[in-house]
Amino acid sequence: MALEVVILAAGKGKRMCSNKPKVLHCVANKTILQHVLDQAYSLSPVKIHVVYGHEGQQVKASITDPKISWVHQQQQLGTGHAVLQALEFIAPENDVLVLVSDIPLLQAETLQKLQQTSLNADLTLLTTEMENPFGLGRILSEHNQLQGIVEEKDATDEQRKIKEINSGVMLSKAIHLQSWLPKITTDNAQGEIYLTDIVALAVSEGKTVNRYKTTDHMQVQGVNDPLQLEAVERVYQLRQAETLLAKGVNMVDKSRIDIRGELICGKDIRIDANVVFEGRVEIEDQVTIAANCVIKNSVIKKGAIIHEFSSVDGAVIGEQAQVGPFARLRPGAELGCCSKVGNFVEMKKAQLGNGSKVSHLSYVGDAIIGEKVNIGAGTITCNYDGVNKHQTIIDDGAFIGSGTQLVAPVHVGASATIGAGTTLRRNAPAGELTLTAVQQKTISGWQRKE
Ligand code: UD1
Ligand code: CA
Repeated sequence: MALEVVILAAGKGKRMCSNKPKVLHCVANKTILQHVLDQAYSLSPVKIHVVYGHEGQQVKASITDPKISWVHQQQQLGTGHAVLQALEFIAPENDVLVLVSDIPLLQAETLQKLQQTSLNADLTLLTTEMENPFGLGRILSEHNQLQGIVEEKDATDEQRKIKEINSGVMLSKAIHLQSWLPKITTDNAQGEIYLTDIVALAVSEGKTVNRYKTTDHMQVQGVNDPLQLEAVERVYQLRQAETLLAKGVNMVDKSRIDIRGELICGKDIRIDANVVFEGRVEIEDQVTIAANCVIKNSVIKKGAIIHEFSSVDGAVIGEQAQVGPFARLRPGAELGCCSKVGNFVEMKKAQLGNGSKVSHLSYVGDAIIGEKVNIGAGTITCNYDGVNKHQTIIDDGAFIGSGTQLVAPVHVGASATIGAGTTLRRNAPAGELTLTAVQQKTISGWQRKE
């Protein structure tokens, strides 16, 4: 049978204490809603419906998939009411998976197990046991037979002691939901139409209700407040770190690495403490990353070393190259093999050829630098005239003396030498010494003011 997914995302999320809708808060830089959508995609459903309400335009704008069926829930009258809104867009013969929009850690394998458990059942729930089940719907069962779900606010003291909880994830058929949901009343402590009430109804009709109880309760941990968001983020990060460790990545502390995106690792990589990865980062074999680096959307080739406190964004770092400490590589920085970018150097949209060095305190922007070029300390490419950006080209083997300003557009020929302190406004010919420094003079007998 074809599967359709309904994601319930109309709630306010008041406890987040934020103006932003709850589902737009992020875990590892990805919205909680996108995490849940990715769970849905893993089952290849024919359609995904997202029930939205609170700050709907913002929620819609956050999702790029044009195939999402957006279902507006005018008033948030409860989870059962929310599913009912989506039902009119679902083919009666299809299976329906209901996902709550605030459980980002749920894994595809768990959903597959839920699906397996649902064979021959009319309704199947995903449950787990929680040490502290406060606030959650409790699973009522007798002799391991499901009887119903009772919400915290409606439960007796005895029922509140039950540790098995409802994850909010359910699987059924549209035709069953269509028959049950209109019968649900608002006769409860919150005056809402509870989706959870369909369980007792199904049981009373003699329908088969199954449950898959996961032992990994963090997978169904909801994000309802900032504390839970932080807890979920930490678990998400720890699990990613453990996966990398298992693949052979050396890490000094699995709790001090953050991967907010995709990290692709080769062999014999060493990552020191407090390193943050964002976007898509690819690290080849034998790369070392020292403490306190932030690396985004970059490729780091074999044997390169990123020294401590470096910020690398949108860069390609060549084999055996060295970066930092305290370097800043911005988008378009491309470092050749065995090149070096040292401390307090900023590079943007610039190529540094094989074996070339910019060792200290420089700005290199919009530049093409050849091989074996040495750029002295305090060199600046003056690439911006206030309106346009201009390029600096430095050919192989050139030597740029310290404290030089290269006023772009400007070209330094191969093996040229630029004297220290030069302000280069015109091209410097290959193989020659070019300098603009005024002649040094000494004023004899000059006295400082008292
Ligand atoms: C719900 C379940 C509870 C379960 C818990 C798991 C019900 C009645 N209770 O409680 O058994 O243990 O989830 O996290 O279902 N939503 C709408 N429209 C509404 C109301 C809610 O779209 O009118 C959405 C919310 O955005 C949220 C989800 O449904 O994503 C669950 O709603 P929430 O208010 O968080 O329910 P809980 O009280 O957590
Ligand atoms: Ca919730």
